[in-house]
Amino acid sequence: MRQYLKMDEWSIIEESFDPSTHEISESIFSIGNGYMGQRANFEEKYSGASLQGSYMAGVYYPDKTRVGWWKNGYPEYFAKVLNSTNWIGIHVLLDGVALDLAQCEVKAFVRELNMKEGYLSRRFTAVMEDGKELRVETVRFVSMKRHEIGAIRYAVTPLNFSGMITFVPYLDGDVKNKDSNYEEKFWLEVEKNAGPERSYLTLKTKKLDFHVTSVMSFDVTKNGTALELQPVLVENEKYVSSEVSFETAKDETLTLYKYVANVTSRDHGLGQLVEAGTAALSAAKSAGFDVLLQEQADAWAEKWKGSDIIIEGDVSAQQGIRFNIFQLNQTYTGEDDRLNIGPKGFTGEKYGGSTYWDTEAYCVPFYLSTADSSIARNLLIYRYKHLEKAKENARKLGFTKGALYPMVTMNGEECHNEWEITFEEIHRNGAIAYAIYNYVNYTGDKAYLGQYGLEVLAEISRFWEERVNFSKEKGKYVMLGVTGPNEYENNVNNNWYTNRIAVWTLEYTLEVLEELSKHEPARYKELVEKLGLREEETSKWKDIIANMYYPLDNERGVFLQQDGFLDKELVPVKELAPEHLPLNQNWSWDRILRSCYIKQADVLQGLYFLGDRYDLETKKRNFDFYEPLTVHESSLSPCVHSILACELGYQEKAYEMYLRTARLDLDNYNNDTEDGCHTTSMAGTWMAVIQGFAGLRVHNNELVLRPFVPSHWMSFSFKVMFRGSRLQVNVTEDSIIVANETETPAAIRIYDQSYTVGAMGEVRSKKSSMTV
Ligand code: BGC
Repeated sequence: MRQYLKMDEWSIIEESFDPSTHEISESIFSIGNGYMGQRANFEEKYSGASLQGSYMAGVYYPDKTRVGWWKNGYPEYFAKVLNSTNWIGIHVLLDGVALDLAQCEVKAFVRELNMKEGYLSRRFTAVMEDGKELRVETVRFVSMKRHEIGAIRYAVTPLNFSGMITFVPYLDGDVKNKDSNYEEKFWLEVEKNAGPERSYLTLKTKKLDFHVTSVMSFDVTKNGTALELQPVLVENEKYVSSEVSFETAKDETLTLYKYVANVTSRDHGLGQLVEAGTAALSAAKSAGFDVLLQEQADAWAEKWKGSDIIIEGDVSAQQGIRFNIFQLNQTYTGEDDRLNIGPKGFTGEKYGGSTYWDTEAYCVPFYLSTADSSIARNLLIYRYKHLEKAKENARKLGFTKGALYPMVTMNGEECHNEWEITFEEIHRNGAIAYAIYNYVNYTGDKAYLGQYGLEVLAEISRFWEERVNFSKEKGKYVMLGVTGPNEYENNVNNNWYTNRIAVWTLEYTLEVLEELSKHEPARYKELVEKLGLREEETSKWKDIIANMYYPLDNERGVFLQQDGFLDKELVPVKELAPEHLPLNQNWSWDRILRSCYIKQADVLQGLYFLGDRYDLETKKRNFDFYEPLTVHESSLSPCVHSILACELGYQEKAYEMYLRTARLDLDNYNNDTEDGCHTTSMAGTWMAVIQGFAGLRVHNNELVLRPFVPSHWMSFSFKVMFRGSRLQVNVTEDSIIVANETETPAAIRIYDQSYTVGAMGEVRSKKSSMTV
């Protein structure tokens, strides 16, 4: 871990250039707009270590599975978000010599990610080998308003010389995924044209026939006056460029404005890509860079209106939480229900850019509270649309009915191929069911259940029905050979969390059926027919609910993570010498699996999800037992511990857990940020503040708050959207103020007191102490 970024409330700032941290910065300073994302690569040539990354949401490649020993049921491919045409490139030459920050001295370097207005900027002075000094200032963004548009302003000023400056803006499709399984390139050229007005390049994927067209155009000004351009046009394999050169005197500023439209066959017909790209590009170019930049600031102001968190008294925490909110909003904007949130967003290639249970378990709460409910709804509909594939997946594994959603997917098909995860980490099905409950409970949108929710719930319930078996020996239903959320144990029997979430799904499905039969009888009938749901199935579900086996330690009064957990040697993490940690880098896999150490919240994940079904004493006993054994080697873990610790009044512990992920990428805490940011766990950090410190829940149609201010902060405030209202919540040591910024009244509860915050109204409450 090395902290090299400047503390600032609204920006991420790097104040000198260090090639050894460049790839980390490339991840951290990434920009995105939900439709495309771009690592913070330099526009000009850079011959040092770099992961060049431009990604188009939903454009992926089914890379043939690479595995040592094939097992029946493995997926044929691993879906990868595709590294696409490098659209940002601008070669810069000084009297014919390329500007390359790996080959010159770099002075006064500042790189800034302006999170308030949504752009990336850079300024530096390059000292070339021959002593020429060039001042460079750049700004770039991908437009939130015009999602196919990226724009760059690239200004250079010779400081101590006059000479010929050449710009070569280009589109380069000869790119490769770093994580390609067979070192293969995934793109083929379709067509290209380098023209005086605009150039374009169309590529298609070798499989699946995704087409992506990038169209570029540019202007150049000298000291603000437009120059006439007579570009030298170049076309090479998967490459187009335009070269323009200008005699430039010392202190004159030459500015290149590069506009690019990236359009894909996901949104346009194959024959229309160039036309669609050109139209989007022309509109953007005629608006001009400054207008586009202002639109960007306005769009981000809107985003922040619903999602900002203000922390007083701790700039580092303020920067950390805003960075997380910023990255989440850059990754998913929710307009397109075919898209989802990869664990690394658009900031790197690890994890394939696909969808994991992270979305339902961690991201859905963020979007539910910070955006219009249609956004979280689209995340749910994404899974609804994959229901048929989830059923196919269950058949492929030998189940006669039901649906098993994939652990990792791009299009609904499973593409993960480690047996203990692919076949055994079936708890993901529970998170998908839980997200439906979470959405309906938060938004009150019960109509969703009849429209989409019930079908998913019923098919998941059918899966659980077939996945359990009745143990004659125990006289109970059991679930054998699973991996729980804790991936540091595999092939265990009766993982408490999985058994519990399975039974919870059955309970909730029955509840929804009952509700529908009462309130929407016609739809109920239709769905029962469509699903072919038989009475013997629902009876079986009831029997499983009544007779499921849960491993317990009666002496300690805790739920056991799995049948054999107490056979392990239980030595708290704090007794391990520091050189053993992290275990995944220092221990053999075998040693990890036999140990008692827990990678991420497991039993505690269940107590978090089903929090209103367990009393504080039960939560406390389990927390006290499991927290000392947890190594939190998944960044998804500390937030759940933090939230429970808040509930239990363990405020210091809660803060310690929150800190584990608050600045995970900014401080490169896990030494892996160069692979990309931990986007989905950023939602977990948000949860730690909102559901942890602020204690936000939705219960009986009220938004419940039980806040406290961590002792390291003076106060904090946040925005939250709830059933048509937008609330600003301010929490200080001794008061809580909830202001309604909309005309829609909101039913809230602060501790145990209920209120209605009227249109544009306000509620003030004195803070009572926590009752634990
Ligand atoms: C975690 C999983 C998670 C995945 C992607 C793994 O390390 O154990 O729970 O889904 O990362 O974030």
